[in-house]
Amino acid sequence: RAWPPPQPQLQSLCKHKAEQRGILSAHRGSHQLKKNGPKALKVLQAERRAEAERSVLISCLPKTDQNKFLKYISKHGNVNKCFFYESFGTYAVVEFSDKDGVLSLLDSATIPSISHESVVPLRSRLLSLRNINTVDTDKQTTPQCQPQRTVPINELIQQLSSCNSLEQQIMSLTEAHSLTEENTRLRFLVCSLLNDIAAAYFPESSIRPFGSSVNGFGKLGCDLDMFLDLDAIGPRSGMYVEYQMKRTNSERAVTQSVLSVIAECLEQFGPGCVGVQKILNARCPLVRFAHQPSGFQCDLTANNRVAMRSTELLYLFGELDPRVRALVFTVRCWARANGVTSSIPGAWITNFSLTLMVVFFLQRRSPPILPTLDRLKELAGPSERCIIDGNDCTFTSDFRKIQLEINTESLDQLLRDFFEFYSTFLFNRMSINIRKGKEEHKPELGPLHIQNPFETSLNVSKNVNISQLDRFVSLCQESAWMLQSGATLTTLLLPSQISAVRGRKKRKVEPASERIKGLLESLRTKNNVREFCCHCN
Ligand code: CTP
Ligand code: MG
Repeated sequence: RAWPPPQPQLQSLCKHKAEQRGILSAHRGSHQLKKNGPKALKVLQAERRAEAERSVLISCLPKTDQNKFLKYISKHGNVNKCFFYESFGTYAVVEFSDKDGVLSLLDSATIPSISHESVVPLRSRLLSLRNINTVDTDKQTTPQCQPQRTVPINELIQQLSSCNSLEQQIMSLTEAHSLTEENTRLRFLVCSLLNDIAAAYFPESSIRPFGSSVNGFGKLGCDLDMFLDLDAIGPRSGMYVEYQMKRTNSERAVTQSVLSVIAECLEQFGPGCVGVQKILNARCPLVRFAHQPSGFQCDLTANNRVAMRSTELLYLFGELDPRVRALVFTVRCWARANGVTSSIPGAWITNFSLTLMVVFFLQRRSPPILPTLDRLKELAGPSERCIIDGNDCTFTSDFRKIQLEINTESLDQLLRDFFEFYSTFLFNRMSINIRKGKEEHKPELGPLHIQNPFETSLNVSKNVNISQLDRFVSLCQESAWMLQSGATLTTLLLPSQISAVRGRKKRKVEPASERIKGLLESLRTKNNVREFCCHCN
């Protein structure tokens, strides 16, 4: 089927509400040409970056009069957009219609005078509103703050229990978790503020968000992954001059020293940046810190261009069919609620791995809901060819070229089948491969193997140990069983419910001695995760 694909009914369920909250428009933009499909991520990112460069972040008092504030700000230039939110205080994001507004406001800003401390004189677009004549009156219009966090799981479950069907629950969950227009703006603004600091050393550099902040699968409250893009090799022909530059023995060493300096800068001079940690010996060196004014946990890497490509790829998959995002959000939420994923790094399955598992599952449907990466590569034109550090990262970003087959499966069906699919997947022998869209023999030992789509010799889920995979598989089995028995999503999100079912099922199936016998037998004969879990139940 050609672009635009027929809109499945499920999208209309919450489409209006989603558009109101900016979920769809955050990624699609209101002026998009429907017949050409959604905008490519690169185009959207450029628009967002330009908006961010015209914006400032201002700490306000909670009782700030919204109207007076806007009147004051508007003296400096036309305001395109202004919204408030709370994070360790009340903040306003103001976007001017051009950069002159920002410059005029910054010109009027003063350096704080404080009696017992000294200030680091770095000026940025992070400001504080001061008003020595504050008078509290009833007529004040205090700011309406935009939520920047998801509802707690208990509230979400309550919300879902009023839905009429599983499909509605899935859509409602997706809506509650998606990044809002405002949150997306804030993410780009934080990148832009940090870029100003990095530019003091590297004027040509740019800091860009990647990962779930921009790939369409971000949940309110997710971390902000950024990369410092330092590459700027211009065309070379005829006579030319080049910069004299210090040399080191590897690109990795350059990345480490650049990140180390930026980390020092953020720590010493970066307003709002706290808890800066240098994690420079990781496979992908990074600087981790909290940006207090936005409340974001930030991971800054450098020259991580392959990750930007996987971000673009996931964005494309998410935009190809509305069921993709809905299923990913649901599986991620289910995994978090049942302790399959965690905010602490460890041997857990990550959200990125889960997303690739959903993509793979959708490529395996009959007819497939998503194309394989190899197919997207075949569709790419010469201008879309992309090789990064020797890795072929070519695929088309042109939605018009992608023909999808008609698949009308409902979300209920897909969720149920997702759990069944991974309940019986031969994890001990096979690898998940979204490039080929079919399972391949595992190239290495290790419980879970998900091939990195672009750095194909790498396993995205190398960190996962056998007991975590085992947990995932048994939860899939129990969830499939519960859905077949007519349970709804709310039950699946209550971990106590799943373990209760596990207990009941165990008791029903066979006596404990038999179970243990079977389990030992299975361990003796095969080191097979699937077998192991089947015997557990
Ligand atoms: N990434 C990767 N290989 C990995 C881990 C991550 O290529 N083994 C890339 C992916 O593009 C991923 C991004 O780095 O989207 C950010 O990683 P991470 O923050 O772990 O995942 P997110 O997709 O951002 O999900 P979350 O919401 O959990 O942050
Ligand atoms: Mg992330």
